[in-house]
Amino acid sequence: MAKYTATALLMLPTALAASQASGLFSSYVSLSIELIGFPQWAGTRDSRNEFSNNLIDNLVKAQGSPLVVRVGGNSADRAIFDASLTTPTASSCKNADPGAWQCIGTSFFDSYGAFPEGTRYSHNFNLATWNSSGFNTLEATVPLACKALRGQLEYFEVGNEPDLYIGSRRAQDYSVAQYVSEWSNTTSRFEEYLHEACPDMTGNIKYMFPSVSSPGSRLRVPGIFNAAGDAAKRVTQVSVHNYMGGATQPGVTLQATLMNHTAVVSSIGKHVAYAQSIAEYTPADYVIGEHNSLYGGGAAGLSDVFGAALWGMEFSLYAASTGVIKRLHFHQSVGSPYAAWSPVAPVQTKPPYYGKLAAGTFLAGSDKIQVKTLSLGSDTDKDVDSGYGAYINGELRRVAALNLREFDSGSQSRGTKKYTVKVSPRSSWVVKRLTAPGARDQTNITFNGFAYEAASIGKPVKVAGRTTDERVKADGKGNVSVTVADSEAVVMIRA
Ligand SMILES: *[C@@H]1O[C@H](CO)[C@@H](O)[C@H](O)[C@H]1NC(C)=O
Ligand SMILES: *[C@@H]1O[C@H](CO)[C@@H](O)[C@H](O)[C@H]1NC(C)=O
Ligand SMILES: *[C@@H]1O[C@H](CO)[C@@H](O)[C@H](O)[C@H]1NC(C)=O
Ligand SMILES: *[C@@H]1O[C@H](CO)[C@@H](O)[C@H](O)[C@H]1NC(C)=O
Ligand SMILES: *[C@@H]1O[C@H](CO)[C@@H](O)[C@H](O)[C@H]1NC(C)=O
Repeated sequence: MAKYTATALLMLPTALAASQASGLFSSYVSLSIELIGFPQWAGTRDSRNEFSNNLIDNLVKAQGSPLVVRVGGNSADRAIFDASLTTPTASSCKNADPGAWQCIGTSFFDSYGAFPEGTRYSHNFNLATWNSSGFNTLEATVPLACKALRGQLEYFEVGNEPDLYIGSRRAQDYSVAQYVSEWSNTTSRFEEYLHEACPDMTGNIKYMFPSVSSPGSRLRVPGIFNAAGDAAKRVTQVSVHNYMGGATQPGVTLQATLMNHTAVVSSIGKHVAYAQSIAEYTPADYVIGEHNSLYGGGAAGLSDVFGAALWGMEFSLYAASTGVIKRLHFHQSVGSPYAAWSPVAPVQTKPPYYGKLAAGTFLAGSDKIQVKTLSLGSDTDKDVDSGYGAYINGELRRVAALNLREFDSGSQSRGTKKYTVKVSPRSSWVVKRLTAPGARDQTNITFNGFAYEAASIGKPVKVAGRTTDERVKADGKGNVSVTVADSEAVVMIRA
């Protein structure tokens, strides 16, 4: 039983000038996978991970285009190549480097191409290991990587979060100048090896760069581009990473940090301002090349519960509404609380997956839509009521409403909020609901009445008692209403 039903008017234009194209990239909701675990996520071309493939396929169908998968992260800057390894990865490789603890072998590269056909990839080369084994790794892996990625390459990446090298992989006084010198040096060697191994792939080399850890990075991106000059001319995507906070940071809670529109606006706002300050140094597009809820792999009880699914949807829609952030890469690593699924032992779909599916449904055909926030009426709370419109050719075609009030299952009664949106008079809408018993639940989650669990190898299964494609109709004045429970969200699609 509803504790209360409140009404709020979501005001937005029902039409926009068709010329206002936002120029987002396709498959806005894309992935980043920690390099050392990539073979577990993907399997190999000959023996692919069917569970991952089905889950990705659902995201592809929702968005209408293949994903872009960035393979990289901290482990890319640790990975040492050992030609004698018989496994794709290993935790030591004494033949190559007795000091190495993350190693890759030749068969690592058999995982490129194991995800659904059309997937495009980026491979992250090691920059941080600045010694003979790092240099040998680059020389030995360029031929393997380029052959594996031929025809399915999005871009290359060299180094990860160089701002965090300061005082760990490098001295305390590691500077922009030193970083740029190392990056230029490494990309020169990389391009030389590419010319030898895959001359057909040298015509249009593209880099994602500089992949700093946050907009507050101690190595400043405008300064990096300024110092790089011509060396950065092949950079097509400026990548800056993001986390809402840290897994063990005091004060981080589900309601205040994740299920909170104001917190999301504040986090993304730093990227918008940063992108604007970078734009005068490079024409490259801005992406969040690695991100998730909380750094350090996420926090159990926060990053792996239904509230994190609502956060992922909210974050994606607000980022798209900026028009400045062209694509998101949600970071995945095996065993981390923030992962969308566990690809191996045990295979398991995790709550964040459902948020990506809902976001992808709203953002379908992201390169052809324009996303706007809905200005909410006086009866709403800017922290917890969040609304978006998606326009195609200037016409409002999709609406999303998120009720981010935390409701935990087992509590007394669940409140609801009735949102009324201004649309075309008498237009019909199909409502797809993202729901679960409560914000802290880890199971019994559905989107539009379907579950995508391991039991069905990630394929959709209709769940009894949950609605699919609810229908609502606008009145003659163009008001359409939808009721959304606390800790629930809907995507409405114009029929
Ligand atoms: C290279 O540097 C890494 C750390 O960055 C270290 O673990 C490894 O032992 C070094 N290898 C050599 C050959 O110096
Ligand atoms: C890169 O740096 C190494 C080590 O300082 C140096 O030996 C090499 O000549 C440099 N290569 C290029 C292409 O600048
Ligand atoms: C939402 O986040 C903002 C900004 O961090 C904070 O001021 C506010 O208290 C949070 N709201 C809730 C309901 O926790
Ligand atoms: C799933 O959630 C529904 C509420 O949507 C609840 O009635 C049902 O008991 C839950 N099922 C399980 C197995 O937890
Ligand atoms: C319906 O639309 C009218 C006219 O645009 C508006 O004044 C009214 O407040 C709306 N009704 C609701 C319930 O929001």
